[in-house]
Amino acid sequence: MKKVITLLMGLVLMLALIFAFSACSVTNTELPESSLQNTQDDLEHQTNGDVKTLVVYFSAPDNLDNSYVEIDGERLGNTQYMAYVIQENTAADIFRISPQNPYPTEHDALLEAAREEVRTNARPEIEGTIEDFDSYDVVFVGYPNWNGDMPYILYTFFESYDFSGKTIVPFNTHGGSGFSRTQETIAELTPDASMLEGKSISRNSIESAEQEIIDWLNSIGMLKKTGEGQGL
Ligand SMILES: Cc1cc2nc3c(=O)[nH]c(=O)nc-3n(C[C@H](O)[C@H](O)[C@H](O)COP(=O)(O)O)c2cc1C
Repeated sequence: MKKVITLLMGLVLMLALIFAFSACSVTNTELPESSLQNTQDDLEHQTNGDVKTLVVYFSAPDNLDNSYVEIDGERLGNTQYMAYVIQENTAADIFRISPQNPYPTEHDALLEAAREEVRTNARPEIEGTIEDFDSYDVVFVGYPNWNGDMPYILYTFFESYDFSGKTIVPFNTHGGSGFSRTQETIAELTPDASMLEGKSISRNSIESAEQEIIDWLNSIGMLKKTGEGQGL
């Protein structure tokens, strides 16, 4: 009888141990936080310190003074200027999203072209492609706010490339609406990517926003001075 009781107690102990271990493994597999990339440190950990960064932007300056920044006599679109500051301070590669059919540069005609895109749910075609897109870990994506949304050519862009496993960093310029819902839209279009905190700057302050952009890059762990200024 004593033997039976000892055997039974052993069995109960074994069952308890099996339960405890299986409970542990379930907890581990249920920790999605471990796969979220939030800082450059996390990224460097995952990529052995070699984080490859790309800045992709769309910018369509028109004939109004508040739609561009003038640097050394050269006119840059507001978002284009922001993209250059980001590129210079992250040592990134850069790609401009250009439409195959150029947008009008006269303001009212541009407004009408953008409204037409919304009406027809257009996917304007992009000129050229990004070489070796798969090799990038972090992709900054910049655009002006158009009609409380991204310009529709950005939808073409997000639908043309595979963002699985990448970290997206949105940035934009605007005339008062900030990001609107565009960050949420990007997250919906790229369900297998993660996202760092984006930056939105008004066209009224973009010309003097260089330090603000640098501070933001620093705060998300992406600041990396190359020492080779682009002369901005
Ligand atoms: C077609 C069009 C639609 C716009 N719609 C909005 C808008 O809904 N909300 C907003 O804040 N700004 C809006 N803007 C202003 C732009 O977002 C702003 O001027 C931006 O800085 C332009 O950037 P870019 O020079 O890089 O193209 C619109 C501008 C254009 C041309």
